Amino acid sequence: MLKGRHLIDPMDFTVEEFDEIFKLADEIIENPEAFSEVCRGKLLATLFYEPSTRTRFSFEAAMLRLGGKVIGFSEPNSSSTAKGESIADTIRTVGCYTDIAVMRHPKEGAPKVASIYSPIPVINAGDGGHQHPTQTLTDLLTIRSLRGNLSNLTIGLCGDLKFGRTVHSLIKAMSRYENNKFILISPKELKAPDYIIKEVLEKNHIPYKEVEKIEDAVGELDILYMTRVQRERFFNEEDYIRLKDSFILNGEKMKQAKKDMMVLHPLPRVNEIAYEVDKDERAFYFTQAKYGMYVRMALIAKLLGVR
Ligand code: NCD
Repeated sequence: MLKGRHLIDPMDFTVEEFDEIFKLADEIIENPEAFSEVCRGKLLATLFYEPSTRTRFSFEAAMLRLGGKVIGFSEPNSSSTAKGESIADTIRTVGCYTDIAVMRHPKEGAPKVASIYSPIPVINAGDGGHQHPTQTLTDLLTIRSLRGNLSNLTIGLCGDLKFGRTVHSLIKAMSRYENNKFILISPKELKAPDYIIKEVLEKNHIPYKEVEKIEDAVGELDILYMTRVQRERFFNEEDYIRLKDSFILNGEKMKQAKKDMMVLHPLPRVNEIAYEVDKDERAFYFTQAKYGMYVRMALIAKLLGVR
């Protein structure tokens, strides 16, 4: 039963529960009209303490397309946070007015704290450099829909593997499907954190390797997941400037890739994918953004127990 639950970390839900969400997303994609009233009378709160385009808009569009309504803020200084209110008190209050809340916060663990005090389901929409479970639902629905399966894949993750929360959540989730391998592509300074390498990959005996260049791996990959350097999480601008151009996917590198490799990116892109790649039929990042709305429709419906 997913009704009433929180989603803070991708491992909060089992593989079977993920599958339940994907199946409902399939039904919604097939016949969106049939779902256009299921959340009538329900209210979603969006609490965004950090910038967002896709995540917030897709959640809002999802709720509106289910017949529900949305309130929230995208600028925390317009809320009582600016007066010093705690996350715990904010969510208790928001829980008096709404049925479900989506929170993005620059501090790791903030949505978890909210969930402890919350009378309504809380969804983590990204907490600092930690996790982003609904991006992972998006990524998995995209792969499952376009490739037909989530196992037996060689997955390359490229870019800022240190601060990139989408990468951390995706590795956790994809590790649970059979026979997946990971190639982690990043400069030394932006390698995946120890807890991902030790607690997720090594502990579960999942094959992986670390390389520094796209060219060192691109030919082997079924999926290439690109990410931007997370400028806002750097302590100094000099390091950012030094590292920001260290990996760029372009047409030349795409020539070395398999004919059916999928290029994914959670977006926003800065310069890590050249615009010329957009017309390559293996580029799926905007399709992926669309799946993000459908999977969030399914998630909201499940957590509210309206289906
Ligand atoms: C990602 C995020 O916020 O972590 N964006 C998103 O939700 N699609 C990726 C990023 O900001 O680089």
